[in-house]
Amino acid sequence: MTQSLPLVLGIETSCDETAVGIVSGRKLLANVIASSVNEHERFGGVVPEIASRAHLEAVWPAIARATNEAKVSLDDLDAIAVTAGPGLVGALLVGVSAANGLALALDKPLYGVNHLASHVAVDLLTHDKTVGPAIALLVSGGHSSILKLDSLAGSYEQLGRTLDDAAGEAFDKIARLLGLGFPGGPLIDSEAKSGRAEIDFPRGMTAAKDQADHRFDFSFSGLKTAVSRYVKATPEYQRANVAASFQEAVVDVLTMKSIDACKESGIETLLIGGGVAANSRLREMAEDRAAKAGLELRIPPASLCTDNGAMVAALGAELLRQGVKPSDLGIAVDSSASVSVVSF
Ligand code: KG4
Ligand code: ZN
Repeated sequence: MTQSLPLVLGIETSCDETAVGIVSGRKLLANVIASSVNEHERFGGVVPEIASRAHLEAVWPAIARATNEAKVSLDDLDAIAVTAGPGLVGALLVGVSAANGLALALDKPLYGVNHLASHVAVDLLTHDKTVGPAIALLVSGGHSSILKLDSLAGSYEQLGRTLDDAAGEAFDKIARLLGLGFPGGPLIDSEAKSGRAEIDFPRGMTAAKDQADHRFDFSFSGLKTAVSRYVKATPEYQRANVAASFQEAVVDVLTMKSIDACKESGIETLLIGGGVAANSRLREMAEDRAAKAGLELRIPPASLCTDNGAMVAALGAELLRQGVKPSDLGIAVDSSASVSVVSF
């Protein structure tokens, strides 16, 4: 093994993507993603049992495809990394069992890692800079948080989180209400392009009274209710305008609070990750506001924003490079893992 360029395979099964990535240090060699998203479409959201069954069918073929794509054999690997939490318990179990089996059979170190820290670690694959200190806004269908970290393998603090729906979940529910389909984020994003954000929907958790306890928290339930009421009360509503106005309300709060977190903590780098980071208006507004605030903004390409195995492999490679002790074989999953635990 070249200590500076460990070859690591990462497995991610915390939600509906069965994903396997392979990295050599900071270089991406393979990024295989088999999503069960279509199987959840008619339910309008991810159904845990369906996700677990799909992972079971997809995980070993995805591992084989990834090693083929990277042109490496399993024996070449220096370590296996896997998402151990947070996420759906049955879904996590499939990935963790596969990783435990591989590590045992190949006699390689195993790193059970935190899903949220992996979203941050993907930044390693896009340039040569160090990661941290930073504020990270992680927004997806399953989580929405503002984190403060000093370094990738160092200490993480959750400054804020959603009190109800995740941001992506709000996109999915409003898309369903507007008859756009699932997953809703990309559909609302494209519908909004032909609309005007002229309806003044509420910005959750931004009132003066929320500043003391919820300055960096999110809430999308009031917005959801407001959109639903507007649609019912306005039979002639313009779908594109509702989509644009809803999107504007979400993106306004996400960018405002994460930039406020940078200012409050004196941190000059803002990272954005998770599926919602693919949103074109979020990217535009974050760029604009970060530039005005004199902050460095880092958002990975869309293929690395959504859940993937490369981010897990990247974090595993960094932990190995830093000499962090591997996990014990037979690690359990922790579906509600705190972000303060980077590896298990
Ligand atoms: O990170 P991800 O692939 O999986 C997890 O949920 O963990 O994120 C999927 C979420 C879905 O809710 C989807 O609607 C949302 O990300 N999403 C978007 C966009 N693309 C995906 N939301 C807003 N705008 C987008 N362009
Ligand atoms: Zn995620």
